[in-house]
Amino acid sequence: MSNIKIAPSILSGDFANMGKTVELVKEWGADWVHVDVMDGVYVPNITFGMPMVKALRKHTDLVMDVHLMITLPEKYVGEFCDSGADMVTFHPDASKDVQGAINIVKSKGKKVGLVVNADQPFSIAEPYLDQIDMLLIMTVQAGFGGQSFIEACVDKIRLGAEAKKKYGYKYDIEVDGGVSPKNSSLVIEAGANVLVAGSAVFKAESPSQAVIDLRK
Ligand code: DX5
Ligand code: ZN
Repeated sequence: MSNIKIAPSILSGDFANMGKTVELVKEWGADWVHVDVMDGVYVPNITFGMPMVKALRKHTDLVMDVHLMITLPEKYVGEFCDSGADMVTFHPDASKDVQGAINIVKSKGKKVGLVVNADQPFSIAEPYLDQIDMLLIMTVQAGFGGQSFIEACVDKIRLGAEAKKKYGYKYDIEVDGGVSPKNSSLVIEAGANVLVAGSAVFKAESPSQAVIDLRK
């Protein structure tokens, strides 16, 4: 299915060779580069920030899909846009000004997404569905790669797809967390069209085959 986009998460890549990592993502036939930013406050883990996005921009022409797992994203979304992100996605439950953060990303001419974390209800994204370019449904609690897929979260993908159909919204539906060729058909059937995969791609014997299998 060619309308399905695969976004490998470089969280599972080689942190000492991130330039090479994003180049490999393209060689493997994937569509987007998923960049997981964690601040140690919203989530218990810390990864990297704007300088990494800026450095990686020189190594890829793929869409850089930046997933901010940070508190008060409204303080940083503008800088992530300026650093070369194409899409900036944040957690509304981490924000005190969701509308403000959306406005900043849009004013920079970039795409904006909202995330529904595994422990959050679909309703946290609902007031903004008419404004966003992407709805990201987490199928693990954000914070670490390599966790097990939570099947109960698939219902929220369905809610996102139903709202899209009912009201004519335009957002992509991305799914993130424990996604593999074993469950990709389930999430695609539920309505997802962008699949994030960390371990399933980077730890595969053949990452390019994994990208092909995820699309099925
Ligand atoms: C988790 C991150 C995910 C993670 C996915 O907080 O948002 O993007 O890297 O990794 P896997 O596919 O291994 O669950
Ligand atoms: Zn992510």
